[in-house]
Amino acid sequence: MINIDLKPLDFAATAAMPADALLLLVPAGFAGTGDAAALVQSALKSGDLPAKGNKALALYKPKGFAQKRVWLVGVDAPSPKDVRASVAGAVAAARQAGAKTLVIGLSALDQLDPAQLEAAVASAADSTYTYNHTKAKAEVSSVQNLTLALTADAVAQLKDAFAVALATAKGVEIAKEWGNRPGNYATPTHLGDAAKAIAKKGKLKCEVMGLAQVKKLGMGSFMAVAQGSAQPLKFIVLQYSGAQPKDAPIVLVGKGITFDTGGISLKPGAEMDEMKYDMCGAASVLGTFAALAEIKPKINVVGLIVACENMPDAGAVKPGDVVTSMSGQTIEILNTDAEGRLVLCDALTYAERFKPKAVVDIATLTGACVIALGGVRSGMYATTDALAAELQSAGERAQDLCWRMPLDDDYAEGLKSNFADVANIAGRAGGSITAAKFLQRFASKFDWGHLDIAGTAWKGGAAKGATGRPVGLLVQFVLAKANAPLQKAVVAKKAAAPKKVAAKA
Ligand code: BES
Ligand code: MN
Ligand code: ZN
Repeated sequence: MINIDLKPLDFAATAAMPADALLLLVPAGFAGTGDAAALVQSALKSGDLPAKGNKALALYKPKGFAQKRVWLVGVDAPSPKDVRASVAGAVAAARQAGAKTLVIGLSALDQLDPAQLEAAVASAADSTYTYNHTKAKAEVSSVQNLTLALTADAVAQLKDAFAVALATAKGVEIAKEWGNRPGNYATPTHLGDAAKAIAKKGKLKCEVMGLAQVKKLGMGSFMAVAQGSAQPLKFIVLQYSGAQPKDAPIVLVGKGITFDTGGISLKPGAEMDEMKYDMCGAASVLGTFAALAEIKPKINVVGLIVACENMPDAGAVKPGDVVTSMSGQTIEILNTDAEGRLVLCDALTYAERFKPKAVVDIATLTGACVIALGGVRSGMYATTDALAAELQSAGERAQDLCWRMPLDDDYAEGLKSNFADVANIAGRAGGSITAAKFLQRFASKFDWGHLDIAGTAWKGGAAKGATGRPVGLLVQFVLAKANAPLQKAVVAKKAAAPKKVAAKA
């Protein structure tokens, strides 16, 4: 990731800071003295400052500024989304101009909150990321150093938020990088090694299990998906311990199908390459753990990654085969392309041993979710309203949105089987929901959330690539959970105060 730092610079110091380019966010009441301020004021007065999105008034060697290129955007109280758009626009323009150093001037704004700062950091990191792992010649962003110029007060107040934003951005980058790597460079073994490396760097516990251990655990459903592949399956357990050992953890479960051909129920050839992204759930768990290792919140979190390929082969599982899951429930595999739920169900059963506060799985699970919600919001399911609200607000805070979907039992009707306890598919209707209903059968022992990220984890078309979602949502979700007891303590203290007064009187 590029270098991003926070500096206490008022408007005059920002204008005087040596750099190749400057993006300045200008509020309506902008005031100041000197050439630079006069220029900004006159542009503001004449109504020449675009106020929306990634449009800006572009100036070249403007008088009073130390930077060659200055972009002015008029904003009063920019939403995090506005900040994201302006920063993305400035970074794109700076990269086009070959600028190496860029300053984002935020000190003129009346107020700056953590969400706005996080948006600036997320956007800067996002728009300077380049994929290079399998290219002969690396192509890197010209912009390598970015300074966020804030008032001295804001720097002091937003230090923690900045650290969270940086750690999250690094986590997002990890998720993007692993999502983007082709199937032959991101095998289950590679994911296991990546988890070990993240664990080593962050001093986390990590165990990578292979077939023998998975067999011993009785994960017959997971094994069935992997059995058509030459790549050995891996079951990865990551543990972040920020609280007392007896503190119930949150468990995050990631779908790690490193390539999904559909198996014997083979997918059509067109765009099948995109099924290398079928491990984005796993990648988001890796990214989240890397971020947690840096942020160090007071909470315990377990990460489970079920990684294998879904391939057709003489030994592959066949439509109609019945397998026994770790839970003991038998499953009739009517379609081998509905493999995500088959690997996740065994991980959900495994999660029981942690007696978790909550379990959230993250999966590029269904094409139906792409049809339902597109690329804007992830499909979100939860067995309690409280958990749903937490996931929803974590998504809003991180600008990594999700939308709650229903879990009515009537949606499970189509999963009935004549030959097993449950079938792995229902009809075409409500496909994302019926997949969730299948998983819910394995999540009866804890509060359970499920994120169907098939539409949000990556983009197709010309800008094809992983988005790093929903790392932002997951980090905010965990942080909110970690701070929940703290907030409760504050409330309790306030509530206890009148009592004292009463006792004195
Ligand atoms: N990995 C796919 C889901 C997917 C599709 C993700 C498109 C991203 C984009 C999943 O394993 C799958 O194939 N699901 C099937 C389920 C069906 C057979 C019930 C699907 O959605 O078509
Ligand atoms: Mn599939
Ligand atoms: Zn899949």
